[in-house]
Amino acid sequence: MTTASIQTLTRRRVLPVGENGTLWETRSSYGIFELHGMRLRIAVENPAEVLFPTDCGLSLVAALNGDNAPDLRAVNALDIGAGSGLYSVALLAAGAERVTALDINPASAVQTEANVVANGLDAARLHCVTSPLEEYTPDEKFDLVITNPPHLPYDPSYARGDGLETALVARRGGRAVYDSVVERVEVLLAPGGTLLMAHSSLADIPRTVTELTTRGYEAETLEVFEMDIPLLAYAEHKETMLTLLKERRATGRAEFDGSRFTVHALMFRRPGNATGR
Ligand SMILES: C[S@@+](CC[C@H](N)C(=O)[O-])C[C@H]1O[C@@H](n2cnc3c(N)ncnc32)[C@H](O)[C@@H]1O
Repeated sequence: MTTASIQTLTRRRVLPVGENGTLWETRSSYGIFELHGMRLRIAVENPAEVLFPTDCGLSLVAALNGDNAPDLRAVNALDIGAGSGLYSVALLAAGAERVTALDINPASAVQTEANVVANGLDAARLHCVTSPLEEYTPDEKFDLVITNPPHLPYDPSYARGDGLETALVARRGGRAVYDSVVERVEVLLAPGGTLLMAHSSLADIPRTVTELTTRGYEAETLEVFEMDIPLLAYAEHKETMLTLLKERRATGRAEFDGSRFTVHALMFRRPGNATGR
């Protein structure tokens, strides 16, 4: 594979070893994050069914506070793998005109709507869709697509069959949803539109960047975050998962050092002119 062209940064934010949830104020059942000076709250009713946001997901929100972040006002956005609605809430609060929150897990729609309402945002601007991304063919194209796909490799030995598994683990060595986003992006994103991705270094960042830049997308790294590999939910199977990850690292498809990995807040622009709204 050729080396991907990407506009590089980059400042790296190193999060503390042994901790998760450092990018927001967490309580047992909710957390508060800041976006453009607003304090926004995300609750998760059942963390075994809907992922309580992790530093991996929050890293992209943190990057949206940065100088290079895109203007979110008035966009028509698609939140792929909405989960708790973390990004849907952020986008609506930042002035998105409309957000479609897509998730394969039906519990996500309920939680996303509850979080939008709890933040005093207009639920009429939110449209929740329960569907696998692979089967979702909207009759519109979006100005902005945002996503934090599952990034850990699947193995039958630690299958749990719940929403947490769907949120964290994916086939094809953890790349399945990244691959679907790359395959389907032209169906989803308008010419000139922006794709924002929290991309784990465990899931082959160069591959995603190469596949999109060879199709003419501009790629930019907004920020890089270093943090612990989130193995808490898989504590009993840590060694199996690390063995799978090491195999992928040996063939250049994962990058990590001990129990530390990085999440890159990536921004891609689809070639072409936006048609304007
Ligand atoms: C890592 S979680 C991200 C949740 C939230 N965006 C965040 O950052 O906290 C990934 C989400 O993708 C959803 N998901 C997994 N596979 C999917 C698929 N094939 N189609 C649609 N959603 C999927 C999961 O249910 C989960 O909510």
